[in-house]
Amino acid sequence: MHAIQGDITTLSLDAIVNAANSSLLGGGGVDGAIHRAAGPELVSECRLLGGCKTGEAKLTRGHRLPARYIIHTVGPVWRGGEHGEPELLAACYRNSLAVAARHGLASVAFPCISTGIFGYPADAAARIAIDTVRAHADATLEEAVFCCFSGADRALYEALLG
Ligand code: AR6
Repeated sequence: MHAIQGDITTLSLDAIVNAANSSLLGGGGVDGAIHRAAGPELVSECRLLGGCKTGEAKLTRGHRLPARYIIHTVGPVWRGGEHGEPELLAACYRNSLAVAARHGLASVAFPCISTGIFGYPADAAARIAIDTVRAHADATLEEAVFCCFSGADRALYEALLG
């Protein structure tokens, strides 16, 4: 488990995780970057999935990305923290790992789910991300990467990872 700073669409891993919305048809932030880099075949594949509920995760191919697969998950919108946001954010990481395990994927990178457009406080989100990956990574997972876009997020993860 380690943190890096960079653009998740450039990573050559078994899978990258997308912080999507429930339509799975694209959006802004990391979702927009992934759809642009993967090409239009991605939205065509996503149309077959019938959306995704908050906290759940679904797999597609990586298409034009260097990553083989994309695990799309939908984080909670931050509404103050008393509306199940921590449990739903943990479910994103847990269900993404379950999808990876089901497909035998050994290397997975996560963005800082929900902490951009969805407004989840970065520090609280990073603690949940690390705790959940630590608790639920199974034996097939050799490499779990927290791909931070900002230097501040990378510093936060490095401090929490020790
Ligand atoms: N690589 C890695 N991280 C990135 C990249 C990138 N290329 N681009 C942005 N980030 P956000 P959310 C970081 O807003 O909060 C979309 O419209 C970003 O700095 O992408 O879960 C979806 O369709 C932040 O740290 O996702 C949904 O509607 C993190 O990714 C909604 O946004 C997450 O920010 C989801 O909002």
